[in-house]
Amino acid sequence: MNPGDYDLDAYWMPFTANRQFKAAPRMFVGAADMHYLTEDGRKVLDGTAGLWCVNAGHCRPKIVEAIKRQAETMDYSPAFQMGHPGAFRVAERVAKLAPGDLDHVFFANSGSEAVDSALKIALAYHRARGEGHRTVLVGRERGYHGAGFGGMSVGGIPANRKVFGNMLFRVDHLAHTHNPQENAFSRGQPGWGAHLADELEQRIIALHDASNIAAVIVEPMAGSTGVLIPPKGYLERLRAICDRHGLLLIFDEVITGFGRTGPCFAAEAVGVLPDMITVAKGITNGAVPMGAVIVRRGIYDAVVDSAPSAVIELFHGYTYSGHPLATAAAEASLDVFEEEQLFGRARELASYFEDAVHSLREMPHVIDIRNMGLVAGIELEPRPGAPASRAFQAFLRCYEKGVLVRTTGDIIALSPPLIISRQQIDELVGTIGAALREIGRD
Ligand SMILES: Cc1ncc(COP(=O)(O)O)c(C=O)c1O
Repeated sequence: MNPGDYDLDAYWMPFTANRQFKAAPRMFVGAADMHYLTEDGRKVLDGTAGLWCVNAGHCRPKIVEAIKRQAETMDYSPAFQMGHPGAFRVAERVAKLAPGDLDHVFFANSGSEAVDSALKIALAYHRARGEGHRTVLVGRERGYHGAGFGGMSVGGIPANRKVFGNMLFRVDHLAHTHNPQENAFSRGQPGWGAHLADELEQRIIALHDASNIAAVIVEPMAGSTGVLIPPKGYLERLRAICDRHGLLLIFDEVITGFGRTGPCFAAEAVGVLPDMITVAKGITNGAVPMGAVIVRRGIYDAVVDSAPSAVIELFHGYTYSGHPLATAAAEASLDVFEEEQLFGRARELASYFEDAVHSLREMPHVIDIRNMGLVAGIELEPRPGAPASRAFQAFLRCYEKGVLVRTTGDIIALSPPLIISRQQIDELVGTIGAALREIGRD
């Protein structure tokens, strides 16, 4: 491949400032373990696991081999009314990893599809039990649940909603849990904020009536809107309110699943059992697109038992649900996570990572730092009249210096592969510090 032997025009890039990018492109052409290789031959340390997905590091031989082997053996098998063993094996393994009786797995191809599937399963569940009037879906401000119309509507990102609106009309939103006055510079779960869960009962249920509400969906740790860590006791209270009123509680673990916060799922980190967990990203180590909804047995049973046998019970699915290449990648990824005890490694490294990121507290423009497991958010004071520009400048400086970070608004979000070494954590944080010092004057 020769640099420059392609044109930049035709590709409409997602969630990207197309004109800015095309004026000064940043191209990756290779990856191995903790690093990317740029088109101009530089190594870049991956501080973001790609897009929160490459938890075991890049191009791991076991995963590469499994995908190759599967592509040679059977490229595709119909997802409807036919099966292939890989899909059943991955479902069984994911069910075993999930807490409690979350033991049935529905496959999709992305986080967005997993979320839409979970919302539809919630509606189907209530209908199967004769409560088809439960159709209101509750999300949260600053939640991100993907780019589909369902996920976007329960999500709470203003820029998403500004253009596309709220296309599901029977939705409501809880307030988000971040308050810089109360929980800035928290290490792990902040002590303030459990009471914010009470809004579910005191406003939302009071307004809509519980009998009309199907489900509440939240990210246990909100990643895409800037690493918002759940206050201690908050998710427990949401669970208790859902239980009191018959609402399903869905944890969107597209980012937090597969070791990001220490245990396999954030549900375990906070000790709260949801009714469904959505996953994607890390399930295949980012190597082949895959998403999934993990549901409690009672939900599966209620939906499946409500239909006569020989009738399709849940009228939902995707051509590529449980695609053979995705299941091969998932099996090999789960093997690597297990063989290398990567979730344990994330737990062990968490306090070193925490100390390292909090060492940036005195750097120019830093107004908050928060962390959980191997995730951190470093919030910068926005430039007056130019929100997000300061963090983006820090991102560019880091990239020039050989480190990939991610920014969302004026927050630098870090989520390195779980194989990162202490030395690489130092390099990551040291580079961010240097970048912040350089842009300090602006
Ligand atoms: C919590 C959460 N849900 C859903 C999604 C959407 O996933 P995808 O981009 O694979 O559709 C994301 C993506 O970052 C996410 O963070």
